[in-house]
Amino acid sequence: EQKLKQEQEKDSSLPKAQTIKIRDAVASRGKRVKVSGWVHRLRVQGKDMMFAVLRDGSGYIQCVLTGQLCKTFDAITLTLESTITVYGVINQLPEGKTAPDGHELVVDYWTMVGKAPGGDDAFTNKISQDADPSYLLDQRHLVLRGETASAVMKARSQVIKAFRAHFEHKGYTEVTPPCMVQTQVEGGSTLFAFDYYGQQAYLTQSSQLYLETCLPALGDVFCLAESYRAEKSHTRRHLSEYTHLEAELAFITFDDLLQGLEDLICDTLDRVLADEPTRQLIEQLNPGFQRPQRPFMRMTYADAITYLKENEIKKEDGTYYQFGEDIPEAPERVMTDKIGKPIFLTRFPAEIKAFYMQKCSDDRRVTESVDVLMPGVGEIVGGSMRMDNMEELIEAYKNAGIDSAPYYWYTEQRKYGTTPHGGFGLGVERFLAWLLNRYTVRECSLYPRFTGRCTP
Ligand code: 4AD
Repeated sequence: EQKLKQEQEKDSSLPKAQTIKIRDAVASRGKRVKVSGWVHRLRVQGKDMMFAVLRDGSGYIQCVLTGQLCKTFDAITLTLESTITVYGVINQLPEGKTAPDGHELVVDYWTMVGKAPGGDDAFTNKISQDADPSYLLDQRHLVLRGETASAVMKARSQVIKAFRAHFEHKGYTEVTPPCMVQTQVEGGSTLFAFDYYGQQAYLTQSSQLYLETCLPALGDVFCLAESYRAEKSHTRRHLSEYTHLEAELAFITFDDLLQGLEDLICDTLDRVLADEPTRQLIEQLNPGFQRPQRPFMRMTYADAITYLKENEIKKEDGTYYQFGEDIPEAPERVMTDKIGKPIFLTRFPAEIKAFYMQKCSDDRRVTESVDVLMPGVGEIVGGSMRMDNMEELIEAYKNAGIDSAPYYWYTEQRKYGTTPHGGFGLGVERFLAWLLNRYTVRECSLYPRFTGRCTP
């Protein structure tokens, strides 16, 4: 049988087929090609015709099988998600007929690679759209094959490429700090602890402290690494493991920091939208997306407290937020959605922010800090200037109840040539949830981890 197959493939009356990925289909029209992939959609028309949309991760192509080709046992029992290899010529479709890229592959020969089950075990029974979200997360390995989930992952890949291109363009050095650490950055309550050869260690919450130590060696730096937060709450925007884009800049002012952030967001969007296939993915997921206008709105924390009051956005107990209180996710989102554009929320009170933040010189109660808020998601970036005075930092450890000993390497940055510096961290899944209009960050992670889920 194998020999027969080879002979058919080599049918001397047909030209030799060129192996292609579907992304190259448009450029390969009119030539005989060989394409392998998964049966994405299947439609049988009478006894003599079958349409199979094939997917190979690089695109989709409609294949038409006629005559003997759809009368074999394999053809009659063909199922969705089976893998097949097809041979034939890609022809442009006449006006009025539709298929991906406006063409179809007219098959002259095909083989089965791996048959997927039909019946109760069939693919479509495993991932029905109205299934329970938790069940669908168990089936994430199959859900990923869908048009929406795979489009999100493709867009994610392009966005990450654009972030890197932006920093490359600006001359930053990329570093890869450790994930296993013995210091905290963003408070003890969200640390994941584990045993490290008999000592307590943590999964990193942020690579910021390490990035700061790179400035004297490498200049401005960035990293794209996983951060971990033991978040106890179930929300649309919290993961236990997320991809964190962080950057650190030396010899800057707070205003430079804000400018750098605006550049990052706008330049990344420009790069992503300049790539036509990516622009189409964004249009598919978030129709009508408009890039935000520069400059971004700037609002101080104090003004946000006033805004909440004036717009009657209250706490659960019916009272208003007071200066000094944390603005939680819900009111923050109400405010951001009402304003409907990106906001740089600045100058948070020192007591509700991390220990390392630089205080404003004109008001010591507040810090040179910023959160970037986006409609639909809320906070996607947190950043600040860092304390550059050693005595002040030692005092800050004390106030936060942190033992300074394990931080000697961080403290010493202020001893051996201190400098005004600052940086930020952007949650990649949150950025994507905003850009791709996803309801939750979970859709923007390959295999999301959150309270109670560490599988598959
Ligand atoms: O505001 P955060 O906690 O800031 C830091 O970690 C700083 N040390 C970063 C820095 O200056 N280098 O976190 C930064 C961003 C948030 O704005 C959010 O987008 C994301 O990280 N983030 C999360 N994303 C998903 N799930 C979580 N549990 C997240 N926690 C933070």
